[in-house]
Amino acid sequence: MSSYNILLLGSGGRENALAWKLRQSKLCKELFIAPGNPGTAQLGSNLNISITDFEGIKEACIEYKIDILLPGGEDSLVAGIYDYFKKDAQLQHIIVAGPSKDGAQLEGSKAFSKKFMQRHNIPTAAYREFTDANFDEGITYLQQHKLPIVLKADGLAAGKGVVITQSHDEAVQAFTTMIKEAQFGDASKKVVVEEFLTGIELSVFAFTDGKNYVLLPEAKDYKRIGEGDTGLNTGGMGAISPVPFAQGDFMQKVVERIVNPTINGLAAEQIIYHGFVFFGLINVEGNPYVIEYNCRMGDPETEVVMPRLQNDLVEMIVKMGEGKLNEITVLHDSRAACTVMLVSEGYPATYPKGKVMKGLENAHNSLLFHAGTAHKDGELVTNGGRVLAITSYGATIQDALAVSYQNAALITYDGKYYRRDIGYEFQ
Ligand code: AMP
Ligand code: GLY
Repeated sequence: MSSYNILLLGSGGRENALAWKLRQSKLCKELFIAPGNPGTAQLGSNLNISITDFEGIKEACIEYKIDILLPGGEDSLVAGIYDYFKKDAQLQHIIVAGPSKDGAQLEGSKAFSKKFMQRHNIPTAAYREFTDANFDEGITYLQQHKLPIVLKADGLAAGKGVVITQSHDEAVQAFTTMIKEAQFGDASKKVVVEEFLTGIELSVFAFTDGKNYVLLPEAKDYKRIGEGDTGLNTGGMGAISPVPFAQGDFMQKVVERIVNPTINGLAAEQIIYHGFVFFGLINVEGNPYVIEYNCRMGDPETEVVMPRLQNDLVEMIVKMGEGKLNEITVLHDSRAACTVMLVSEGYPATYPKGKVMKGLENAHNSLLFHAGTAHKDGELVTNGGRVLAITSYGATIQDALAVSYQNAALITYDGKYYRRDIGYEFQ
């Protein structure tokens, strides 16, 4: 194989971990990250271009002779970056490691993904969808629905579009705010109301060329801000891999009932889908159900999945582009990995930025993936809610966590907060 110039889109911990993985490949010639962060700047060249500025991305692809485009997050995919590239004579030769706009609807529209699962008999929570047109019917439906009730804005809402209500009044209130007051703008013009499932969640990742797929190491993330899974939802406070129950019979059910029908269903419906499929699953008494699909890798799951993936990611992307993923056998590192996210005080509500960070050089035996940092007056400062992902390996999850926690204590900035109970169910 020759070598490739790669453009990675995004600026979080996920992109720092992807850049780290891409950089290790002999097939990676030059690596560019738009817009990137101080962590990615150590691995390639950051370009000051927004991920939805398709014109700007096009110019960069031409100027830097890009061969591979890897969108880290969903926004550019849902906005149709794949189709934009394939329709443009100057860009269509570039391998885009992500789905078409239609394929990205698996994440971009909850109603689309629920209907897709129904068509292909993929286990998921029972649901109905409502808009302003059947609003009154929705209220009646909610009032007789078993508690708790899950309400989901149809469209992208930056991870905030799901409300779990414990009473009928609360459900009616949330439903009304979403539809009548457009709480999440156009995203909540349509609302999916679904049954609440009880179990342990996990994230499973496939990488597909549309026909063949490989499974990456699975992971579990910790979404709530507070210990014991309490408080507000966040982008993710930490992750572990492997997930102890994700093996044997359970994983066989995941493959047979969920992954195969999803990949085959996309192909049967002629929906162009290349790249990552993220299955947000829940284990209900030994049976997997789909909570959500995402059309990209997870954050912070990527910060443990990439460290456990032993294959060359660039080679995988090239094989994907050729439709030959059947030639790849995925190798998982036998060690466990964890990541602990350092965040800013106040997150996920309002939080300060610009706090000087110290002690990163003292953190040994961990990978430090920058999530929300910046350089200011020659110093590294906080620049987001999620600041730094501290990833470690260990013989067991607990061993890995011990290393991350040791390093979490050595890195300092005003208002540092992190959960001290990542992996708590698996002690
Ligand atoms: P989503 O954005 O669809 O992943 O939902 C965010 C979070 O809400 C999930 O990670 C779950 O913790 C929770 N959730 C969503 N749907 C359900 C459901 N049907 N039953 C239980 N919890 C759910
Ligand atoms: N960690 C969940 C997500 O990336 O959506």
